[in-house]
Order: sequence, then C-alpha cells, then structure tokens
Amino acid sequence: FSALKHVRLFRLFAANMAEEAKKLAAYAAVDNYVQNNQVIGVGSGSTIVYAVDRLAERVRQEKLNVVCVPTSFQARQLILQHGLTLSDLDRHSELDIAIDGADEVDSELTLIKGGGGCLTQEKIVAGCAKRFVVVADYRKDSKALGQQWKKGVPIEVIPMAYVPVSRMIVRRFGGETVLRMAVSKAGPVVTDNSNFILDWKFEHGQNWKEVNTAIKMIPGVVETGLFVNMAERAYFGMEDGSVQIRD
Ligand code: 5RP
Repeated sequence: FSALKHVRLFRLFAANMAEEAKKLAAYAAVDNYVQNNQVIGVGSGSTIVYAVDRLAERVRQEKLNVVCVPTSFQARQLILQHGLTLSDLDRHSELDIAIDGADEVDSELTLIKGGGGCLTQEKIVAGCAKRFVVVADYRKDSKALGQQWKKGVPIEVIPMAYVPVSRMIVRRFGGETVLRMAVSKAGPVVTDNSNFILDWKFEHGQNWKEVNTAIKMIPGVVETGLFVNMAERAYFGMEDGSVQIRD
C-alpha cells in the first residue's frame, strides 16, 4: 500500500463515520420529538436528509398525521420526494418543532448556521417553532464558536450592500469577510431569497448576542447565521456510535 492509498482509505473511513454519526443524531431527534398531529419545521443540509428519511418512515409505519414547513428549496424537495405533507408559514405560522443541522454548536447551544446558505429561512422557521432541535455529527461540537467551523459566520446581505456591510462589520468587530462564490467561481452564491452571503471570519471571544444584534442593525443585512438562545437541545452522533445530548 502506498502512503497515498492509506490517506485515501483513512478519508473514506472518516467520511463514512461522519455520515453514520449524522444518521444517529437525526434518527434520535425524530424518534424523541415527533408525535402525531404536529407541524414540523424541516431544516436544510446533509444531516437533515436522514431526519426526513426517518420522519417519512415513521409517518408510513405509524400512520402519523404531520405537516412539514420547509426552510429552503432543498427542504421543500425532500418533503415532496418523501410524500410528506408540504405546508408554509401562511397556513402554519406556529410550529410544534423545528429540526435542523448546524455548522457548529457551542457549550451554550449558540449555533453557527448557513453553511448551505439557507440561514434566513432556517431562522424564521426555527423562530416560529415552540421547540427547536439541532442534529449534528461530532465534528460540530465545540466549546467556543470558531474552534470547529473555520469558514466564519454566514451573513445574508442585499446584493447592492455587500461592500459597505463588509466594511462596517470588519471596522466594528475585526476579522475579515469573504463574499461566498459559486463552486464554478463564475459569480457569487445567490440564496433562495436572491441575496448574497458574506462569510465573516471573526476574532475569538465575541459576545454573540451583542454581535448578532449589532450586525442585524447594519442596513443591507438580512440575517446572520448566529442562532443565539434558540435551540433547546442538540443531538450529536458520536464516533463510537453513541448519541450525546446537550440541553
Ligand atoms: C444550511 C445549514 C445546515 O444546517 C448546516 O450547514 C449543516 O449542514 P450539514 O448537515 O450538511 O452539515 O445551516 O444553511
């Protein structure tokens, strides 16, 4: 075996382990939180795919009557593909639960979200839910934000304002911002709301509640990927096959 093959095998092993961990967390959350006659907010990302799989399985097996409100185009497609009942905030403005992934979860259950660019609708839906639950693998678990997720806090901005917003954030809070580009590099990522995303690489030791409020006051900012005092619980799938709960 060459060293390169070892590296490739190790990466494959690690990726499989992370997928298994996502599934464990997602299944645990759906099994513990979902009940008959609920309105459920469906988050976005790769971990939530397992949650929707499990939700659809339970709906089929237990003949549950649940209604799903999506947080993104991806979530909407997942709901439809699984034959679940699709709704929206016009019809269901109060949700029983919302389940979503996260890019990082600190010891206080403060989250960074928006790795997939869906932070605004995710925050709106979570804000309408009586209970907001996070599902994640062990790589998202951290003591303080920034230890695990290195890409910074996603901030959704009105396109014409991305330069002044960027300047104001850096002047006030330090760090640097990067306009998120499409994989092709042909242009910026455009969100479900037709906006841009700035990824703010911050300096450590911020007061997240204050930072979140202050950034939201900047004209042109639509929403931040900081979720402060929103989640009541996080499920982490662990490397050893267990699930850890943080309340
Ligand atoms: C999308 C999100 C996702 O929930 C977050 O990026 C986690 O995704 P994944 O489950 O793929 O790790 O906030 O905007």
